[in-house]
Amino acid sequence: MKKLRVAVIGCGSIAKFRHLPEYGSHSGVEVVAVCDLIEERANEAAETYGAVAYTDYKTLLKTEQIDAVSVCLPNYLHAPVSVAALEAGCHVLCEKPMATSKEEAENMIKAAKDNGKKLMIAHNQRFVPSHVKAKELIEKGELGKIYSFRTTFGHGGPEGWSVDGKESWFFKKEKAFIGAMGDLGVHKSDLMRYLLGEEFVEVAGFVENNAKEDTDVDDNAVCVLKTASGIIGTLTASWAYKGSEDNSTIIFGEKATLRLEDDPINSLVAQYANGQIVKYELGKIQSNEEGGQNNSHVIEHFVDSIVQDKEPLISGEEGMKSLQVILSALESAQTKRIVSQ
Ligand SMILES: NC(=O)c1ccc[n+]([C@@H]2O[C@H](COP(=O)([O-])OP(=O)(O)OC[C@H]3O[C@@H](n4cnc5c(N)ncnc54)[C@H](O)[C@@H]3O)[C@@H](O)[C@H]2O)c1
Repeated sequence: MKKLRVAVIGCGSIAKFRHLPEYGSHSGVEVVAVCDLIEERANEAAETYGAVAYTDYKTLLKTEQIDAVSVCLPNYLHAPVSVAALEAGCHVLCEKPMATSKEEAENMIKAAKDNGKKLMIAHNQRFVPSHVKAKELIEKGELGKIYSFRTTFGHGGPEGWSVDGKESWFFKKEKAFIGAMGDLGVHKSDLMRYLLGEEFVEVAGFVENNAKEDTDVDDNAVCVLKTASGIIGTLTASWAYKGSEDNSTIIFGEKATLRLEDDPINSLVAQYANGQIVKYELGKIQSNEEGGQNNSHVIEHFVDSIVQDKEPLISGEEGMKSLQVILSALESAQTKRIVSQ
């Protein structure tokens, strides 16, 4: 079968640790072109994957015959570059947060529809084994009625991750737009929408910059969320957890409590109301601490959705709904009101 011709735009950390190696090891894919503003980053990726290097994504899209593109760029470029790639006839896998506003997200969804192409957002948390198992248990009714949850994603900040370290775009409002909430919080709004199978209808948030000095974006946030059926919970995001990373989620139901990524060995622990405890030792979650090297299944899923002509699990609409929760939290923090959405 003909291989899928892929380009990766942005050759920073997420491209280097996830997109490029996962495309590179996929038998149905050929990495044809790569692009980064910094020429040596593009050249290094091009050399490793036998691709052509570009420093301007518009030239890449004009010159190469590409089937699919990964957008691995700072947040403010997600929408314009995704739309340009979709209009050039490419399927798009865009990193999270999908965009910096609802209008941008809608433009991306429209461009995908108008051009008959797939648009997927790289919310890898849906493919983490403990999360997959939790979804299965919840759908089987093992928890009974769900009452509440708490979910968090926090670590020391992107200076330890981004290719530009302390100088990174992650800390600059005009490029990132949202700080820890856009980097980490949106992973959890997406995860909770997926696990609970419900939308959040009310959002309250404290979204602060109270830890890092050289940034004008948020680095600590605590939010309270309520779903349509009345499940309530907290979502926290932080770039100021000085100890180890915390990526845990706890879901409290009528028949059981599920603890996800809370125990270092057993990534899912189910504590049943009758006293029974079931421990699942599943694969590890992707973490900054390990350089994100383990298979995220994101690329595999994106490629399958193209080859099998299926809607990806995390479509543009899904990405937009998960983004909206974060935008509502920011609005709540600014207006000091609960936001209905
Ligand atoms: N899914 C996940 O778990 C996950 C994890 C980390 C980052 N991300 C997301 O991936 C995206 C990229 O993050 P990163 O960690 O790789 O950042 P990074 O800072 O490591 O890399 C960004 C790269 O983009 C390049 N770049 C900037 N402007 C460009 C332009 N106009 N044209 C071409 N290249 C340009 C930079 O030179 C840099 O090499 C972000 O949206 C981030 O939120 C997702």
